[in-house]
Amino acid sequence: MKVFKNIIICLIMILCSLSLSSCNNVESNEKNKTDYMILVNKQNKLPDDWESKIDLVEVYTGLDETYQLEKKTAEAYEKLRNDLRENDHVIIELDSTYRTVKNQQEIWNEFLEEYGEEYTKKYVAVPGTSEHHTGLVIDVKIVKEGKIISDNDEMTKETEIFSKIHSKLAKYGFILRYPVGKEDITGYGSEVWHFRYIDNPSIAKEIMDKKITFEEYLQDKNN
Ligand code: DAL
Ligand code: ZN
Repeated sequence: MKVFKNIIICLIMILCSLSLSSCNNVESNEKNKTDYMILVNKQNKLPDDWESKIDLVEVYTGLDETYQLEKKTAEAYEKLRNDLRENDHVIIELDSTYRTVKNQQEIWNEFLEEYGEEYTKKYVAVPGTSEHHTGLVIDVKIVKEGKIISDNDEMTKETEIFSKIHSKLAKYGFILRYPVGKEDITGYGSEVWHFRYIDNPSIAKEIMDKKITFEEYLQDKNN
């Protein structure tokens, strides 16, 4: 009788571990479905099931801060940062990465209070439509002569440093998402600090070389 009981217990344990491992497989298969070419903008909201399809990881920065990013985006960012530091003596740090809809609402409210509606609409996405929700975006700040520069206007004036940064984006699968003079297409003012990971250096190079937006690239490809 005792042997029979032990066999039953063993069978239950085997069944439980099989069902757990199949759950894990389903989860990791879902994560493999990350669509790195997803378009999120004023006309295209984040899909409802998006968060089940990304693998978010923690990134610890040189400034002792912690951010969350999609796994491959985080790896590409580390490579970009090291390349810039070693070969161009340019120091970038993360300033904003993955944002929940609630985070975005807080940013929207802060901007509205501090800068008013026109500026907020030009630089902050309506919660639910921010590319930051994807986990595939980094906003950077720079460290120049030991001083952190994170103010939007100050960063925009650092043209030499940002042109070095922009010239290396494509190599690691990033694009400049809101280029100057393209507000009519992207819906946002120029953001020299906002980079989008698309997981494809050759497409990123095409977009950067042609100085086009992600919207223009996708439209050309679909025609
Ligand atoms: N600054 C960009 C547009 C955002 O809020 O997602
Ligand atoms: Zn941004």
